[in-house]
Amino acid sequence: MTSIDTATGRQAPANVSTDRVRAIFSSIADRYELFNACSSLGTYRGWLDKLCEAADIEETDVVLDVAGGTGDVAFAVAEKFRPALVVCTDLVPEMLAVAQAHREEGRGAGVPMEFAVADGQALPFDDASFDAVTMAYGLRNMPERERALAEVFRVLKPDGSFTCLDFATPPNALWRAGYDLYLKTMVPFWGKLITGDASGFRYLARSIEAYPDQAGVARMMEAAGFEDVAWFDCSGGIAAIHVATRPR
Ligand SMILES: C[S@@+](CC[C@H](N)C(=O)[O-])C[C@H]1O[C@@H](n2cnc3c(N)ncnc32)[C@H](O)[C@@H]1O
Repeated sequence: MTSIDTATGRQAPANVSTDRVRAIFSSIADRYELFNACSSLGTYRGWLDKLCEAADIEETDVVLDVAGGTGDVAFAVAEKFRPALVVCTDLVPEMLAVAQAHREEGRGAGVPMEFAVADGQALPFDDASFDAVTMAYGLRNMPERERALAEVFRVLKPDGSFTCLDFATPPNALWRAGYDLYLKTMVPFWGKLITGDASGFRYLARSIEAYPDQAGVARMMEAAGFEDVAWFDCSGGIAAIHVATRPR
């Protein structure tokens, strides 16, 4: 399977990207949420609500959140749907430690939750063990995207749903130009202000530029075997939510 440098989209050994995301997220874990809130000017909350609206999850479901970070999606899903179990996973233990601290503070109370360090490209779960999988801002950071999608497909039960949120490509050229400018100037500014280091945030801009557009992401999902693939743009295509189903 192809492996790329997620900052450029060019072929590269997987460890180039994996070592970089580990370094970035382990060092900013405790300030990640503040950065998110400031740099997105609060809009990420609305996108999270839309992800929950798009997700096909029921009370009896066992749900997996891949690249769950500090737990935003896992807690939102737990609190909205109150499913049977939510498993929140991430590659970086420091990010998951923040999620576990939130759990101890009472997030997702009353809903069974588990936390596990796991690479989204090699999930430590049995085939067909989840009713639904969610992922936010994860796939873009993975150098082996075909493998990541194959893993989501494998662990989903037949008819299970996959909901995937990430930055995207605004179709309107003027809006896209403004967004590019914001990414290249304001995002590193917020990063430097909040974490003291702008380099990880320059990577964010590069990874978004190198990530396929909405139709390209949909094609990757279809190539992995998903059906009923569709997407919804958020904030004029700054982000997009893809939904897909593992065929029966
Ligand atoms: C931008 S954060 C998103 C976190 C969370 N989903 C959210 O919505 O706030 C990206 C996360 O992807 C994780 N990540 C990157 N590569 C990964 C991989 N191969 N497997 C699992 N998680 C990964 C990072 O550790 C980081 O926590």
